[in-house]
Amino acid sequence: YPYYAQGAYENPREATGRIVCANCHLAEKSIKLEVPQAVKPDTVFEAVVKLPYDHEVQQVQVDGSPGGLNVGAVLMLPEGFKIAPDDRIPEELKEKTQDIYYQPYSDDQENIVLVGPISGDEYPEIVFPVLSPNPKADKSVNFLKYSVHAGGNRGRGQVYPTGQKSNNNLFKSPINGTIAAIDDAEPNYEENFYGGYNVTIEPEDGGAAVVETVPFGPELLVAVGDRVTTGQAITTNPNVGGFGQMDGEIVLQDPARIGWLLLFFVGIITTQILFVLKKKQVEKVQAAEMNF
Ligand code: HEM
Repeated sequence: YPYYAQGAYENPREATGRIVCANCHLAEKSIKLEVPQAVKPDTVFEAVVKLPYDHEVQQVQVDGSPGGLNVGAVLMLPEGFKIAPDDRIPEELKEKTQDIYYQPYSDDQENIVLVGPISGDEYPEIVFPVLSPNPKADKSVNFLKYSVHAGGNRGRGQVYPTGQKSNNNLFKSPINGTIAAIDDAEPNYEENFYGGYNVTIEPEDGGAAVVETVPFGPELLVAVGDRVTTGQAITTNPNVGGFGQMDGEIVLQDPARIGWLLLFFVGIITTQILFVLKKKQVEKVQAAEMNF
């Protein structure tokens, strides 16, 4: 969940550029980030994170039963940018965003915004209503090109903040050996363990048996008496979700600069026309002189 990231990391983007959700959402699935090429100061615009996936398939829930996927995203805007206040959001944008709760990453990081978990069927894309800063009012912001980072996830993660594996994983045999027994395992709800199996594996080369606990969710692929090798999958992989990230760029554009640019164009066109007229005039004089 996004709040797992908040609890564990001061900054959701590591020095390598990797967004921290990926540390627990181990599967990769691409996302798309759409932002305007340029925005004017103190203006509301849309940033969109698209989370494509197959809506027909289901994942395993924490108790092992099948269910739909939820989605979530983190949007890292340039400093000074933030979610627009309600009274600044235009009607048509309000329709897409009114039921979403946008949470700043922390009190002093309003430019980093978290959303989710929300239903993936309802929100195959997450729209962020963003307000650009005004460099005239806030001297720490400049008219420049900035980068924007987005991370988006669908489906449950593979690791809990405690380091424990979730049931949305493939389980492997830790040793070479033979499956000696498969017993029911007692649930421990506090640790998100809703019951499953204790798979006892007797090592090939003797020694104490190893018990691998497999929660409900993934399906067991082995039976008592089967031989297994180290690293061999003893369950299916139930994970159908994944996390992806994408960078974008946005120019905070000074409208006065556009005005000056247009004025410059008018100037160039005028001088070009004057040159042509001058040339015509010179040609006329030359023609007149030749007849003389
Ligand atoms: C579940 C998003 C960071 C571990 C989820 C879900 C979403 C999500 C949308 C619900 C999926 C569903 O119900 O279908 C994100 C995003 C993150 C992030 C956007 C980064 C901003 C993390 C981190 C960890 C983590 C850092 C590990 C420390 C998990 C686990 C679940 C989960 C274990 C499944 C919980 C359960 O159902 O028991 N996450 N997550 N997530 N997330 Fe994350």
